[in-house]
Amino acid sequence: MKHYHFDTLTSTNDYLKEHINELCDLCYVTATNQTMGKGRKKRIWYNEPNQGLALSILIKKPKLEMNQYSVLIALSFIDMLKKYNINAMIKWPNDIVIGNKKICGILLEGQYDNEQNYLIIGAGLNVNNKEFVDKISSRATSMYLQTNMTYSLKKVEKDLIKCFKTNLKKSLRNYDKLMQTYKEYSCVLNQTILFDYEEGISKIGYVKDINPDGSLVVFNENDGVDYLVNSGEVTIKNFYD
Ligand code: BTN
Repeated sequence: MKHYHFDTLTSTNDYLKEHINELCDLCYVTATNQTMGKGRKKRIWYNEPNQGLALSILIKKPKLEMNQYSVLIALSFIDMLKKYNINAMIKWPNDIVIGNKKICGILLEGQYDNEQNYLIIGAGLNVNNKEFVDKISSRATSMYLQTNMTYSLKKVEKDLIKCFKTNLKKSLRNYDKLMQTYKEYSCVLNQTILFDYEEGISKIGYVKDINPDGSLVVFNENDGVDYLVNSGEVTIKNFYD
């Protein structure tokens, strides 16, 4: 996969979006310093230079659904972290967590509705961070904080891309199998969660299953029905939200 690295970018996702016409399928970009990193729900993604990995992959002709890419990138981080003896889980849809703390956030952006479909997979991984800004310090962790060791960002990045390539091949061959593995690493499956039902209304329910399209099957005792949750955020007891 072709790689571009920059010292400073506002956002690696934005770089790919702005240069999409001159870039090739399956290239990826990293930046040492990301000055306006974006998170989900219009949040800011904090990225200290040389502490974390800021990486975005461009898929120019997506062969899988957006949710399927979400599953495969989440599992790629799980596999890569395992190589460093770090056991992580996936908080639906694709936060990578250790205990109740987040180590990696993923932001998918793209269009799937016309002939120029594309997808950008952006990921921020906390690698050598020793501390975090107050706002997130109680709910963030890093590879360093988990192991007391510092890591080469370049090596972590290469290992991640290797896992991504392997999982991409696997998912094109047998996506169902990959989904089965995703379930094994899900920390919402078989848990009671709070989910967004309607604008401003949350409901509580038990996650019975995760569908192949990534949506959650959540049983609500009061209403006696299963709800299909395919967007928004979920909250697990004792977790960050
Ligand atoms: C989240 O958990 O809210 C998603 C965070 C995604 C952050 C990454 S860092 C690289 C890429 N570029 C961005 O601007 N955002 C993503």
